[in-house]
Amino acid sequence: MSDQQHVYPVREDFAAKAWVDKATYQAMYQRSLDDPEGFWAEQAKRLDWFKAPTRIKHTVFDTHDVDIRWFEDGTLNASVNCLDRHLETRGDQTAIIWEGDDPKDSRTLTYRQLFDRTCQLANALKSLGVAKGDTVTLYMPMIPEAAMAMLACARIGAIHSVVFGGFSPDALAQRVKDAGSKVVITADESVRGGKQVPLKDNVDAALTREGTDVAEKVLVVQRTGGEIEWKDGRDVWYHDLVDPQSTDCPAEPMGAEDPLFILYTSGSTGAPKGLKHTTGGYLLHAAMTHQYVFDYQDGEIYWCTADVGWVTGHSYIVYGPLANGAISLMFEGVPSYPTNGRMGEVVDKHRVNILYTAPTAVRALMAHGDHVMDSSKRDSLRLLGSVGEPINPEAWEWFYRVIGNKQCPIVDTWWQTETGGIMIAPLPGAMDLKPGSATLPFFGVQPALVDNEGNLLEGAAEGNLVILDSWPGQARSIWKNHERFLQTYFSAYKGMYFTGDGCRRDEDGYYWITGRVDDVLNVSGHRMGTAEIESSLVAHEAVAEAAVVGFPHDIKGQGIYIYVTLDDEHEPSDELKKELTQWVRKDIGPIASPDVIQWAPALPKTRSGKIMRRILRKIAANECDGLGDTSTLADPSVVEELIAHRVIK
Ligand code: WTA
Repeated sequence: MSDQQHVYPVREDFAAKAWVDKATYQAMYQRSLDDPEGFWAEQAKRLDWFKAPTRIKHTVFDTHDVDIRWFEDGTLNASVNCLDRHLETRGDQTAIIWEGDDPKDSRTLTYRQLFDRTCQLANALKSLGVAKGDTVTLYMPMIPEAAMAMLACARIGAIHSVVFGGFSPDALAQRVKDAGSKVVITADESVRGGKQVPLKDNVDAALTREGTDVAEKVLVVQRTGGEIEWKDGRDVWYHDLVDPQSTDCPAEPMGAEDPLFILYTSGSTGAPKGLKHTTGGYLLHAAMTHQYVFDYQDGEIYWCTADVGWVTGHSYIVYGPLANGAISLMFEGVPSYPTNGRMGEVVDKHRVNILYTAPTAVRALMAHGDHVMDSSKRDSLRLLGSVGEPINPEAWEWFYRVIGNKQCPIVDTWWQTETGGIMIAPLPGAMDLKPGSATLPFFGVQPALVDNEGNLLEGAAEGNLVILDSWPGQARSIWKNHERFLQTYFSAYKGMYFTGDGCRRDEDGYYWITGRVDDVLNVSGHRMGTAEIESSLVAHEAVAEAAVVGFPHDIKGQGIYIYVTLDDEHEPSDELKKELTQWVRKDIGPIASPDVIQWAPALPKTRSGKIMRRILRKIAANECDGLGDTSTLADPSVVEELIAHRVIK
């Protein structure tokens, strides 16, 4: 088998210095399953608790009752764990290296500075009336203030909801409303790839939408000094309010199960779901995986290229690294600006040791050829990481050979917004690597494969990926909708958490994620529900019906393929395609830009009226020979018509 041809054994010199070697992994993993209480009680000691937990694990996975509690009688504060406890030993050490969009722009913040600024911001939030249990929406650029805002919320027991700065005003409005945020923190503009993004304008627009009047205050960081509108009484300049505040802000003792944050993500149906993460278990999982999966050693420079608007930014730019007293690099820009060599140049400039990025970024570079990395040496790198989507073996090999100079193991980390932290990934001193495989589960994680009927599959097999028991970083619920949480994750297979991913396990027990098996797209590592894009399209006056599917895309992993049926009043035209493209971008955000729009006189449906997406996916992928069983189609001629006019990308 092709995956058996390339195995990269653990390098002995690497294993000798690593936190975990093969034998240690085996022993620790076994213990985490045999004695979860003992294992996690011990691990919990890596956090500073106001009151140490004595009740460790109380978790029920049942279709009718899902109740997940970890360390429930313990109290702690996440910001204390990320800041206060480091002051004595590493107050003057860098906590965050900030690299601006413009290569001339960078700055560093020590733990002491980050602590002071966070406390000031926490006091500022209090002065705006934010109290424990309130929600605050963050719609921010990749600037240190974003990390401060998360930590300041945590400090006073407020629950943050970070919304990716690329989302549209409507998408933002929906999330402000659902979370019920009293305060929105934003900036005048963000800067990406030399272009300004009007964040404050977007907030202004969002807050005109119905139901958003819960948001009483907008706190605005001045990032560019660009011109913005000002609403007196509502808008407050960050520097005016925060700078004069005291740096003394006692941290709120939080129950381990008190919410730390909400993060919205797309599912196969309906509006985005606000996953609820709590304090103790999440922080422990983020910190532990950051140490072990990246084999983080004291003093190393660690760079995760994600945006704080996604879970990867939460767990592996902010909470995990800072809880470990690490040096975390935060990058404002994009890998292709000002040149395609930027990523390597940032690595050289800051002597980065660990680089954690997405397959789509690797493939985009690979498309330019090996010379794209000529402007940098990258000889400081020790370890590479990948996240967000399956990494194809070719991209893995290129990442290893060109970016890592054949010196760095790659940790391919599988996890989800719902899991809080990394679930399946190599520990680089313990696992032999196979390009394209996320390898083996992290401590306490029990993955399994089931067929569509829910039967457990043994040995080498392919099926749906489920997790059999809870782990500390798991999301506890969907904000204000526990029923939906049950339905989405626990109703497909009894007593198991269903991930939504397909997966293969090989004869060595290695896991190979094959991608989503539901109607969720993964475009450049961004999760999107086909239903969200469809509902945006049908809201356009010309559209009678729309179906959205993913298709294989060389760089993005998946592209967005749209079939549109127009109403009788409208004719297909290139202008209308452009208009629909703009419509979706405006409604959801540029990440949802369609790659292909095909006019469909009709959509293939079953006799009961269900759209046959399986067929649409095949046509979009240009696999028209293997359409499978079409006997249930109401009108087979519809398919021939779509095949004849398919758009091949
Ligand atoms: C996919 C991102 C294969 C998967 C952390 C999952 C991956 C979804 C990998 C979650 C990986 C993430 N290999 N697929 N290493 N990492 N995925 O919530 O389909 O934005 O279900 O979390 O991304 O995306 P999310």
